[in-house]
Amino acid sequence: MQDKIQFEYNGKVVDLPIFKGVKGEQAIDIRQLRNTTGLVTYDPGYKNTGSCQSAITYLDGEAGLLMHRGYSIEDLCENCSFIEVIHLLIFGNLPTTSEKDEFLNEIREKSLVDEDLKGILKSFPKTAHPMCILASLTAGLVAFTPHLGSYTGIDQMRSSIIKLLAAFPILASWTHRKSRGLPLNYANTSLSYVGNIAYMMFRQPHMEYYPNPIEVKALNKLLILHADHEQNCSSSTVRIVGSSHADLFPSIAAGLSALWGKLHGGANQAVIEMLIQIIKDGNNIQKFIDKAKDKKDPFRLMGFGHRVYRNFDPRSKLLKNIAKEVLGQKKNVDPILETAIELEQRALEDEYFISRKLYPNVDFYSGLIYRAMDIPTKMFTVMFALGRLPGWIAQWIEMRQNNEPIGRPRQIYVGHKSRRLK
Ligand code: SDX
Repeated sequence: MQDKIQFEYNGKVVDLPIFKGVKGEQAIDIRQLRNTTGLVTYDPGYKNTGSCQSAITYLDGEAGLLMHRGYSIEDLCENCSFIEVIHLLIFGNLPTTSEKDEFLNEIREKSLVDEDLKGILKSFPKTAHPMCILASLTAGLVAFTPHLGSYTGIDQMRSSIIKLLAAFPILASWTHRKSRGLPLNYANTSLSYVGNIAYMMFRQPHMEYYPNPIEVKALNKLLILHADHEQNCSSSTVRIVGSSHADLFPSIAAGLSALWGKLHGGANQAVIEMLIQIIKDGNNIQKFIDKAKDKKDPFRLMGFGHRVYRNFDPRSKLLKNIAKEVLGQKKNVDPILETAIELEQRALEDEYFISRKLYPNVDFYSGLIYRAMDIPTKMFTVMFALGRLPGWIAQWIEMRQNNEPIGRPRQIYVGHKSRRLK
């Protein structure tokens, strides 16, 4: 395999080194390109551009593989709890039993936020989208914990990481309670990390709260399946914001805004809205398949396609089984599941989707599960964020540990050459 590429430009022979990742992917190192040739590269959306070297997650889009720190997503989803995967992503290893207990206890001790944060919450209208509230509350955390968030080395970051892992689920649960006019819950530190998330979201003060074990188990898997996904839009946002040496909490707040977009984490909400639209329109699935294929129609099949996967998203296969398990325990089966399964089947048999290698992604089934848990559609991206938080933290820490330069892409100028006022 070549260790460099060579090309001629302006009568000069240019050598650019090629280096390989541990799984064999190769990259042209263009760090000296502009110095040696005056050229820059052009790659809108960075479809062909590696922004960093990372040891956190590996994706093989052709094979439909996803691994975190060397473990397959199937292995982690089957055998681990979300708190263990959080530890793996951020600190590099699955925790021993004593490490897990210590980690969870540190989080429990920090599971309280300043009561004044409720003032920010109260200032929003009940109709505000939970993601805009959560991004504001997360950025607001800086004001109440000024001594946390600045990077001074992984060991010193532990208390900031613990605080964020403790506070974020509280703030996320508040966005849900606010939207339904319900009283806010405090953390219940007698429960597991995920059991506490369910408790804070669903416990009603006037009734005994009994967690639904099937739903808590499903929520564990859902959060694991959303935990990290290498350099996706929101993780790249967290990295580039952090590269300016912005603190951890505002960098995560920026990631929340990126995740909110319906081409990214907002897709799980858009999938349900699309399925409801199909059913309301008479359940004519082929009509919507044709709309998605029509270049003149802006409609896209939400939950389908992926920048990296040119095969099944391994998460969507696991989520389909979880959806069947969670929905199967419900008395009245949600008609939306049948529509989703038929829509998937038709798209997978359609030449347009086959030729473009468009498969269901992580968002296609996740919304169905949240809906079965009586989580409002507007909260689906908040659930995605609850899962993605450890990935964002791990990516931010790695970027600072590697002392990466401030992110500042180049451009090709196509505006006016020169104009004068007089
Ligand atoms: C997530 O990056 C990550 O890892 C993200 C994520 C994570 O865990 O962080 O996996 C989470 O964001 C999953 C994606 C959720 N988004 C959606 O489900 C929205 C619908 N999907 C599309 O918008 C699209 O597939 C993207 C945004 C996901 C990917 O877009 P790309 O890589 O820029 O692909 P493209 O737009 O260049 O599409 C290539 C072709 C085009 O057709 P042609 O111009 O070749 O004729 O495929 C078509 C597109 O029009 N196409 C679709 C389609 N997705 C792509 N056509 C109809 N419906 C779709 N969903």
